[in-house]
Amino acid sequence: MNSSAAMETEDKVMMDHDAMISAHCRAIDVSGIRRVFELGAKLSDPINLSIGQPDFPVPDEIKEATIEAIRADRNGYTLTQGAPELLSAASAHLAEDVGWETPSDDLGLLVASGTSGALLLAFSALVNPGDEVILPDPFFVVYPAIGRITGAKLVYCDIYPDFRMTAERVEPLITERTKILVVNSPGNPSGVVLTNAELRELAELCERKGVILVSDEIYDAFTYSESRENGKCPSPARFTRQMILIRGMGKTYGCTGWRMAYAAGPKVIMQQMQKLQQYTFVCAPSMAQVGLAAAFGLDVSGHVDAYQRKRDMVVEAFEGVTDLVFPGGAFYAFPEIPSSLGLTPGQFAERAIERNVLTIPGNAFSAKDTHLRISYAVPDEKLRAGLDVLRDLFINPG
Ligand SMILES: Cc1ncc(COP(=O)(O)O)c(C=O)c1O
Repeated sequence: MNSSAAMETEDKVMMDHDAMISAHCRAIDVSGIRRVFELGAKLSDPINLSIGQPDFPVPDEIKEATIEAIRADRNGYTLTQGAPELLSAASAHLAEDVGWETPSDDLGLLVASGTSGALLLAFSALVNPGDEVILPDPFFVVYPAIGRITGAKLVYCDIYPDFRMTAERVEPLITERTKILVVNSPGNPSGVVLTNAELRELAELCERKGVILVSDEIYDAFTYSESRENGKCPSPARFTRQMILIRGMGKTYGCTGWRMAYAAGPKVIMQQMQKLQQYTFVCAPSMAQVGLAAAFGLDVSGHVDAYQRKRDMVVEAFEGVTDLVFPGGAFYAFPEIPSSLGLTPGQFAERAIERNVLTIPGNAFSAKDTHLRISYAVPDEKLRAGLDVLRDLFINPG
């Protein structure tokens, strides 16, 4: 070692990078899902029922419009709130679907980098350290993570065994410090769809208590025939404007990687979310915004009907072998792993992996360890083969 290198070493502080990680980052636990990914990575061609994205391609019209946007040099920053053509398409869609005029005197509209991006902006705009945020349990994994990042106190609403987040279950959890109630219907991981009547009660409760309802409706298009009301996905937006409505485009149009969503809600809050977006994400991806402006006019009912048939295959496969709450939407099912099987959901998932099938143990989405999440967004033959393995495991856990 020459003398100048030695000098450098003496001047440097040995950094313990792990000790430098922030407490809120450290508090985010990814172990449940990571374990499945690690085990699954060892399989060459698994039947993957763990994936949370559709298996159909982006419709050609959207692909072409997006490629055309790149060719037309729509590659720079857009306005922070979104490209004008997507904003006006989303606005027309919301007017038709839930009767909201956006933008208007009281409501704002923002295009965001995915539903997760919109959720982060909403929490960042509203949560002071220690403010309480009520989340369903089981939950989509991003909710607690974003809650921790923004310093929220997480309050879980136990929605077992039927996975319905009702006003009756939520009301006792509301305190002076409650800022946000997160509602997710159709829900991940259960697939349960709340009714307009249930959502109306939640909306009224939030208005009465001064709580902002954040409605994650990323699976709105995947609301199956028996759960639709007047042909539409039930939404609290039909009953209140004191809420943030978030709808993603990634699942509906098979473009999860494009990171696209839109959010609407009280103008003052949306302005703050826009300000935060300006200094963080800056804008959602420009070419995807332009390409997706045409999306609302496309008919995706063929895919939705196909997924409803897959859902029926799942319900049928578990009939008589375990309890499954009927999933009226999304593309997940959350069957119970009965204690009489003598296996934890994690052990059940490991047995399934031994037979080439990937699922996710329910404790990745919950404080409870009693269920298993299955995604049925896979081709029919794969789903059939995977369901045969799972059904067999319920009958002969080995
Ligand atoms: C309920 C729910 N919300 C949000 C997201 C994230 O959506 P995005 O990819 O638009 O961030 C997902 C993805 O699985 C989800 O299941």
